[in-house]
Amino acid sequence: MMRGRFISLEGLDGAGKSTHLAFIEGRLRGRGVDLLTTREPGGTPLGEALRGLLLSRGMVADTELLLMYAARVEHVQSVIEPALAAGRWVLSDRFHDASYAYQCGGRGITRARLAALEEWALQGFAPDLTLLLDVPAELAAERRAQARAADRFEAEDLEFFRRVRDAYLERAGLNPQRIRVIDATRAPAEIQTDVARLLDSL
Ligand code: TMP
Repeated sequence: MMRGRFISLEGLDGAGKSTHLAFIEGRLRGRGVDLLTTREPGGTPLGEALRGLLLSRGMVADTELLLMYAARVEHVQSVIEPALAAGRWVLSDRFHDASYAYQCGGRGITRARLAALEEWALQGFAPDLTLLLDVPAELAAERRAQARAADRFEAEDLEFFRRVRDAYLERAGLNPQRIRVIDATRAPAEIQTDVARLLDSL
């Protein structure tokens, strides 16, 4: 049995993840890939319950990170890993790079503490490909304002999202093979040309 591929999609709230997630799903299914689409935080009944807490309740940054990781460990061990082992592909709307961007960049948890937790929880497990939809914080905020009511993260100020973006780009710089940065300020059709090319290389 050929092991499946694991793809994650990342970006600021308002970067256009939902639109491009649907495109990626269609592209892969069109190739006959047996695909499981999921999300973080979430992806399991426990993870979805934790998501409800994470998006609505105030908590200190360390608790936030640990709950993200509790949801992630549950997700990896009970859903993602078994699917990959069975030859299915997995597409996740966010994965561990979001913790680096939001909890280190946004909230200020040190990279060293996150690295220790990441190693303990994931033991080297990572996506085969990560697509980072990159937009400036200002543009993401404009798009969010038109689209929906803000959750606890989306209610953060521009400075928070600037730090999140910088941390995403820093992480991409550290993992240039895995994380592909896509200029998501462009028209959807142009973005999708790039996304399709990257998917077709998998
Ligand atoms: P979503 O709205 O893209 O589904 O993500 C929910 C929020 O959770 C989003 O604002 C980013 C945040 N988040 C983190 O802060 N750390 C994480 O590890 C993950 C997966 C998401």
